[in-house]
Amino acid sequence: MTATPCTIDAPGRSKGTPLEQRAHRDTIFVEDGRLLAQQEYPGRQFVIRIHAPKCAAAAQPGSFVHLTCDPERPMRRPLSLMRVDPRAGWIDILYKIVGPGLEALSQQPVGAAISVLGPIGNGFVAHTARPRTLLIGGGVGIPPMVFLAESLKQRRSEAPWQTLVLMGSEIEFPFRARPSQIVVPGIPGAAIACMPLLDDWGIASRLASFGGFPGCFHGYVTDLAAGWLASLDAQVLAEVEMFACGPTPMLQAVARVARRFDVPCQVSLEEFMACAVGGCAGCAVPVVQPNGSLAMKRVCVDGPVFDANAVYPPKVAG
Ligand SMILES: Cc1cc2nc3c(=O)[nH]c(=O)nc-3n(C[C@H](O)[C@H](O)[C@H](O)COP(=O)(O)OP(=O)(O)OC[C@H]3O[C@@H](n4cnc5c(N)ncnc54)[C@H](O)[C@@H]3O)c2cc1C
Ligand code: FES
Repeated sequence: MTATPCTIDAPGRSKGTPLEQRAHRDTIFVEDGRLLAQQEYPGRQFVIRIHAPKCAAAAQPGSFVHLTCDPERPMRRPLSLMRVDPRAGWIDILYKIVGPGLEALSQQPVGAAISVLGPIGNGFVAHTARPRTLLIGGGVGIPPMVFLAESLKQRRSEAPWQTLVLMGSEIEFPFRARPSQIVVPGIPGAAIACMPLLDDWGIASRLASFGGFPGCFHGYVTDLAAGWLASLDAQVLAEVEMFACGPTPMLQAVARVARRFDVPCQVSLEEFMACAVGGCAGCAVPVVQPNGSLAMKRVCVDGPVFDANAVYPPKVAG
């Protein structure tokens, strides 16, 4: 197993300031990972575990990896980290097959070599002044929310975090949902289905879908979130911070909900990525700066997490 540090900004091609470049230096690694497990779930969804100790040690909630899916395919695919174990040196990823790259990844046997470039990107930052954290994940945006929830559980000494994770999916969830043991005031009584892993950790979660799955809230995950926020009094609401990852329309709706309740919100974006290490600018998006001007930012290394109002300002998100 070898790991080499990777400097993202090649001289003469860099887009960030010297300080930004230094911040990323020696934090992204190329590792010869080893596939430890691959499990299939309905809807062509897979959870894989890869031995990649450098990545596991440096990863933060919201960071992602750029993987080779098959030795024959040079183009890597960007995938979020769902769980990491720095001691055992593994990373977990949930992916849904879209095209030939992830199709090839799904064919890899246990023991296969997989090149892992990561961890990449600036992740979520939860502030202790707002310990009531509302996490919203849609589809393949669920993984970073699991990572963030687990990380907050491990940071219990810093603040009395109270985390609620809401997940939306229109295909079956990539786990066997069950009724939650945790009561969540402000959530409709019929919405009892949860993610067992989170429930076992003592973290409240609820599921939303139009798919008619048992125990799920029938509707958009953002409507479930808005209903819960509306149930809180002003003092409690002032302690809430929101985090989200999922498809763009969902993130825009999350930004609107956050604005309606005046709650700070961070969102993780997805963009087409070629290099994923800041060199090609192919993933750049317009981001509103504190002074109101627009600047192009690379989703891979300046994000993928941004302030919701900066990427979905009122004129876009409504
Ligand atoms: C930071 C980041 C994190 C991601 N995390 C996850 C994750 O945890 N799990 C997961 O399943 N997916 C995730 N994705 C999306 C994933 O990278 C793409 O779905 C994947 O590259 C598709 O590869 P493929 O070989 O299956 O299909 P491809 O053949 O590469 O693509 C098939 C079609 O899918 C569309 N597509 C490809 N990539 C993207 C993209 N990035 N955004 C929107 N549409 C795309 C295009 O229309 C393309 O023609 C993430 C993307 C980014 C940028
Ligand atoms: S700069 Fe190349 S993908 Fe982001």
